[in-house]
Amino acid sequence: MKVGIIGGTGGMGEGFALRWCANHEIILGSRDKQKAQTASENHMKNIKNSKYADKVKGIIRGNDNLSVAKESDVLILSIPYENIQSTCGEIANIIDDNCIVVSPIVPMSRNQDGFYYIPFQEGKKSAGTLVAENLPKCNKIIVSAFHTISEIKLKNIEATLDADTLFALITKNL
Ligand SMILES: NC(=O)c1ccc[n+]([C@@H]2O[C@H](COP(=O)([O-])OP(=O)(O)OC[C@H]3O[C@@H](n4cnc5c(N)ncnc54)[C@H](OP(=O)(O)O)[C@@H]3O)[C@@H](O)[C@H]2O)c1
Repeated sequence: MKVGIIGGTGGMGEGFALRWCANHEIILGSRDKQKAQTASENHMKNIKNSKYADKVKGIIRGNDNLSVAKESDVLILSIPYENIQSTCGEIANIIDDNCIVVSPIVPMSRNQDGFYYIPFQEGKKSAGTLVAENLPKCNKIIVSAFHTISEIKLKNIEATLDADTLFALITKNL
């Protein structure tokens, strides 16, 4: 299965790629194709030098976000909350009708002190709702998931993920 990760050059993208390449073809997406290719090569090198090298059946490669959106069976939107509308606007007409879209997006932002929550003002929408609204032609499933999984644990493939995570399905025309 082809799993594309829009914004895959971030920490969450790295963690998803390192874990899921055991069984799948992972395509890291970036606004900058070269950045995605360099990140993918580094991840493949790290895997080859790890004790899991023999268990990995898939690969990680990189491309620009739009190419990734076009060819993915499952598409992870691993981008900041503030960029949902602009990014979904670019990919809305090119993702496959049957693509399953997954949003781990949390309404958090970063400053020099670290992460902070973007306050939910009246009428402000959840990330999953915003994704669904901005992908109107996505007629299969949008899954909101992985919000409680820390990037640090996700990237450490030697760590067992012992955390719970909630999944919300936003179904459209099933
Ligand atoms: N970090 C965590 O522990 C954690 C845990 C749970 C959920 N989450 C959520 O998961 C998502 C990804 O997390 P992350 O920490 O990997 O995020 P991140 O590092 O802040 O950003 C991920 C990628 O988004 C792309 N990006 C940045 N600005 C953009 C823009 N203006 N337009 C389009 N793309 C842009 C960048 O890729 P390019 O520059 O290569 O395009 C970047 O590498 C976020 O919504 C976060 O809230 C994070």
